This record gives sequence, structure tokens and C-alpha cells, in this order.
Amino acid sequence: MQLEEPGTLGGLTLKNRVVMAPMGTNYSTTDGLSTARDVAYYAERARGGVGAIMTEAMVVTQQARPHHNSLCCYHDRFIPGLASIVEAIQAHDCRAFAQLNHRGALLRRSVLNMEPVGPSDWINPNTGDAVRALRVSEIHDIQRLFVDAARRLARAGYDGVEIHAANGYLFQQFFTRRINQRTDEYGGTIQNRMRLLLETMDRIRQALPDLRLIVRLSASEYTPAGYTQEEIIELARAVEHAGAAAIDLSGGSNESPQLSKYCIQPPSFPRGCLGPVAKPIKDALSIPVMVAGRVVEPEDAEALLTSGSADFVSVGRALYADPHWCLKAFGQMAAPIRRCIACNVCFERLTTEKDVSCVQNPMVGTEFEAMEHVVPRTADASAPRQRVLVLGAGVAGIEAARVLAERGHDVEIWERAQRTGGQIHLAVAAPDKTEVWPVWTDRWQEIERLAVPVRTGVQVDEAMIRAFGPDHVIVATGSQPRKPPLPLERLSPDVQVCHAWELFEQAERFGPQTRVTIVGGGMVGAELADLLRGRGSDIQILEMQDAACVGMARNNRMELLERLAADGVRLVTRCRIDAVVGNHLQVRIGDAAATELPVGDWLVFATGPQSQLDALEAIEKAGVPYTRVGDAQAPGDFLAAIRDGWMAALALDAEAGPHAASPAQPRKQPASTV
Ligand SMILES: Cc1cc2nc3c(=O)[nH]c(=O)nc-3n(C[C@H](O)[C@H](O)[C@H](O)COP(=O)(O)O)c2cc1C
Ligand code: SF4
Repeated sequence: MQLEEPGTLGGLTLKNRVVMAPMGTNYSTTDGLSTARDVAYYAERARGGVGAIMTEAMVVTQQARPHHNSLCCYHDRFIPGLASIVEAIQAHDCRAFAQLNHRGALLRRSVLNMEPVGPSDWINPNTGDAVRALRVSEIHDIQRLFVDAARRLARAGYDGVEIHAANGYLFQQFFTRRINQRTDEYGGTIQNRMRLLLETMDRIRQALPDLRLIVRLSASEYTPAGYTQEEIIELARAVEHAGAAAIDLSGGSNESPQLSKYCIQPPSFPRGCLGPVAKPIKDALSIPVMVAGRVVEPEDAEALLTSGSADFVSVGRALYADPHWCLKAFGQMAAPIRRCIACNVCFERLTTEKDVSCVQNPMVGTEFEAMEHVVPRTADASAPRQRVLVLGAGVAGIEAARVLAERGHDVEIWERAQRTGGQIHLAVAAPDKTEVWPVWTDRWQEIERLAVPVRTGVQVDEAMIRAFGPDHVIVATGSQPRKPPLPLERLSPDVQVCHAWELFEQAERFGPQTRVTIVGGGMVGAELADLLRGRGSDIQILEMQDAACVGMARNNRMELLERLAADGVRLVTRCRIDAVVGNHLQVRIGDAAATELPVGDWLVFATGPQSQLDALEAIEKAGVPYTRVGDAQAPGDFLAAIRDGWMAALALDAEAGPHAASPAQPRKQPASTV
């Protein structure tokens, strides 16, 4: 594999072609200092075999902090903490690069009340914040701040520094005519629009001639008003000429979900999606080019290299999902890669000021606990074990079973349905959602590898539990649809009524003439509409809240809503249904007077489910302690289900002590460990 071969960047050898992409985590202190948490997080990825790590964007000034807990480097007091990150990375024969940023116009008032500034007065369409045009003296101040920050990074021991001139931040704002309306030497001609970046590079190189400088650019803005391919090639050439050691290509702009999806792509984007736009830029350069974007499996990365689109592959979310991606890719760790599903929950958490977490990897950000981060883990055969019954073979149940079995407990899974998987079958039914399969398959293959017994079609009762004799039961029995939240006695008998869940696997029942009303515009309602729209059905979604798909990651949400609108799906928000009479719904929309909407042929409820807890009575009668996880605890998303399963398993592990059941037979040992 070309991916495994060493590569050179600015005179520095990287042991392979994988560079971890910069990704914010919100693991720092509220002052922007690094913590044991982010040191361990980066160390684990370095240990996992990447050739280099680009740490997350760090801001150069206190006046431009993007998140409460983002890593900073605007003062010397940050140097020791950053040095410990660098040391932890380099200890694993991995190079450390740092990314420097100023968000400029994309600073959000609502976060830390930072003033958005940019090339020109502008209103950020996403936040509504007014942006103030920078004076020339302020531009020079910012350039000085970049030099000071780069000096600190060099002192912290970084192998190089990347200027973030992509994704719609300050340097891109100056480069794109869409935002830069200046008439002075920083606006107008392409030379003027490139000036901020080139001068900043020049100042850094004057101050730190030995520092390797990388520049991140958006290969395309993906909007008709954005810069052209000729312009970005001219900029890339100028950056090379200004002494860059490499160019790192991303895409789009984080100014809105519509453009941000080209930076942090939803699952509908093809793997390695930036390859085709990166190639002409790479062809115009002689310095190495890195390319990011939907690299999920090693083959995606290899394709970017062999197609001549990249010299190094920048891998982002895949390394949240699996820090040992490289070791597994290169056969140095005998375990399958846990694949990123592009759900963008990680990014949504960052944007909403939470610490980053990953649906596929509940361990991300907990590496400092040093508990469960070695995959596969060698079970300690002498440790006390428990006998655990997991009820429910959905995602939460098998995650709990996986971790328990991995840690040497004696686990069995019982499932009421004839097939395993629970709601995964609904999740993958919608268009573009097949990428979600790994949530199930990556875990299921572990269940098989660990030889966990699984029984389906089991109607559990007290006697069966007593006969099995568990020390603990994990209740992962999922959820079930609620009764319709409306009286339906007066509904016309011509109208068919059902819950959305029943239709995900029966889309063929809908044809071009079918008229459907979906009550509930959450993710389930919208994804059902997505599934049916392709069949030509006439669909309306009625949602009580101000917006649909609340809680879904914004890049994915916006893409889905745009798709629905383009295919004529009518979304009615702030819609309260008072009654259903005959073939009509009596509704109030917003503050308007009561009105009627036709129901159509189908009335489908996509309203929230409720926990399925039928098994509790039997467990309680059998007198066995239990833990509810996933939807059986509270209906939620895959992140909550998997975290629940994982945490319940770890809690049992911690509880296993001298009082625990007699040790079961050790399970077979995993093939290898790191
Ligand atoms: C949570 C999150 C935070 C990110 N933060 C940054 C950042 O600080 N700087 C940056 O240039 N890109 C950032 N990105 C973009 C990634 O570097 C990468 O380009 C993008 O995720 C696409 O690559 P992937 O499909 O391998 O994840 C971030 C992405 C995510 C998901
Ligand atoms: S949260 Fe989703 S998108 Fe983010 S890394 Fe994990 S699986 Fe990928």
C-alpha cells in the first residue's frame, strides 16, 4: 500500500502518508489551557500509528476565541501545556503540527461575545451577527499575533505550523470576493485578496526561517459566487512560492450548514470526495499536498494517493471513531476498523459547546481514564467475573455485551424478536443511510469473535431468568411506538393509520399517487419522507416545533431538508393538530386562525416512542439487580444508546469483586494487542 510508505514534507520524514486532520475537541480548560484529557487523546492517536498529527485550530488572540474550551496559544502561559501534547505525540514516532486560526467574521456573538471582524462590513447569514471591517492597522496587528503564536508553537516543540486559510475563516474571507468588498490594498484584485495570507506567511518566515509552514485551503467554495478554480490554483502557487512546505486541502466554508457540508461531509458524499477538486491544484504544485474528506477506510485513502490527488491523506473523523486506524490498516493490530458513519454528532457537539464525543467510539475523550482504550483488550483471566444476561440485541445491548465479554465476563444475549438489530433496520432504510450500518456490523462482528451466545425469539419469564442465574441483567429492550396522540374515532375509514416505524421496510406500499401526512417532523418523520419522496408520493409533514429535525447534526439536517423541499415535500412547522374529522385535520399554524388540512390516504405518526419495559416484572420477581440502557432507559439516539451500554458494562466491571460469581471459563484470547 502506498499509504504505508514514508513521505517527506519540508525535509521531514513521516513514517507513512496518514496525517490526522485538525479537529476541535473542547477538551481544554475554560482558559484554553491543555489538559491531561487532550494529551491522552492525542497520544492515543499517535500510538495508533499515524505519521503526523495536526492538532486542532488554536486561536492567536484572546479576542477571537471560538469555543469555551478550545485550545489556545495567544500567551506564553500556554507553552508548557502544548509542549506536553507535542511530547506525547512525538513519543510514538509521530510528527506534531499545529494549526493556527482566526475566525474573523465567523466568530459567534452568542458563544463568548467575541466581536466578528472581517475584510468588510457584512452580516453573517447564519448567526445574524454584524461583522465589522478591519482597519489596516488591525490587520497588521493580527499578522503580528500569528507570528507570536507561531513562535510559541516552535518553542513548544512542534515540527511545523499550519495557517488555517480554509473553511471560510479570516484568510478565506479576504480571498473570496463574496465577502471581501474592500477597495484598499487588501481587496479587489487577486493580488490584493491574497495579500493578507502571503504577508502573514512572509512575516512568520522572517521571524522563524526554520519553521515548516503548511497552509490549509478550501479547494472550492462550492457556491457559484465563490472563487474559481483558476483563482485557487493561483493562490496555491503563490503560497508555494512564499515558502510553504505543503498545502492541505479541505473544502467549503463553515459560515452556513449549506457550505459547511463541503467541509465536514454528511454520508451522502462519496468517500474521498475532495479528490477530484484537489487534483488540478496538486498538478499545479511541486510541494506535497494533503487532502481530507470522507476517508473512512484505508482503501479510500489509497485511492486518493493512487489517483494522484494527494501525497498525504488527512484523516479526521475516522480517527475519532478509531484511534488505531493505521495499525489496523497496516496489519499491525488484528482487529477490524471501527468505521465513522458521517453522522456528524461530533461536530454538532463541538458547535453546541459540548465536548466532542463519537457515536461509534464512546471512548473518545476518555483515554485519560486508561480503562477501555486498548482494542482488543486481553481479558485478565484471574479477575473476578460476573454472569450477565443482556435482554435485547439492539445496538445498546450488543455494546454492553461486547464490552463485558471483552473484559472476561460471562455474557449471554436474549432477544424477543426473531432477528437481531433492533432499530438499526429502520436507521439504514432511508436513502444514504446505508453508511450507518457499521454502528451495527462493527459491533456484531465483535460479538461473533468473542463467541457471545445470542438467542432470538425469547419471551423471557421469571423461571427462565432464575434458571440462567445471572448476577445482573442489562435491560436493553428498546422502545415501542406510543399510541397516536390524537383521538381518531372521527377519522374517515378510508384513511390508513400507522406508525412510521412500520413503513421503513415497506416503502413499496407507496406509489406516485399516494398522499401521506406525517405527524412529527423529527428525524424519524423526515427520514421517512426522504424514503417515500423518491416514489413520487405526495407528502406533508406536520411539526409542532419551530423547526424540523431538531437535534440532528446541522450539516446533515440541512442537506436532508433541502432534499425534501426540492422534491416537493411540504413541511409545516408550528402546527398544532386539534382534531381529525373525516378526511381533514383541524390545525392551528403558528399564530394564524384555525384551519383545515387534508389528511390524504395515509396518516402516519412519527411521534416519539416509549421505553419497552415488559421484561422488568420477571426480572424483579426473580430478584436480580438490573440496569436499563439505551431506549429502555430513555428513548434517544445511537450516541446515547451506545454510551449507555458501554458505561453500564464498565460499571459492572468495576463492581465485580470478591462477592462476584465464581469465575467463568476464560474466553479465547484476542489475536493481538498493541
Ligand atoms: C468536530 C470537528 C472539528 C473540526 N475542527 C477543525 C479544525 O479545528 N480545523 C480544521 O481545519 N478543520 C476542522 N475540522 C475538519 C476536519 O479537519 C476535516 O477536514 C473534515 O472533518 C473532513 O475530513 P474527514 O471526513 O476525514 O473527517 C473539524 C471536523 C470535525 C468533525
Ligand atoms: S460522531 Fe459520527 S461523524 Fe463523528 S466521528 Fe463519530 S461516527 Fe464519525
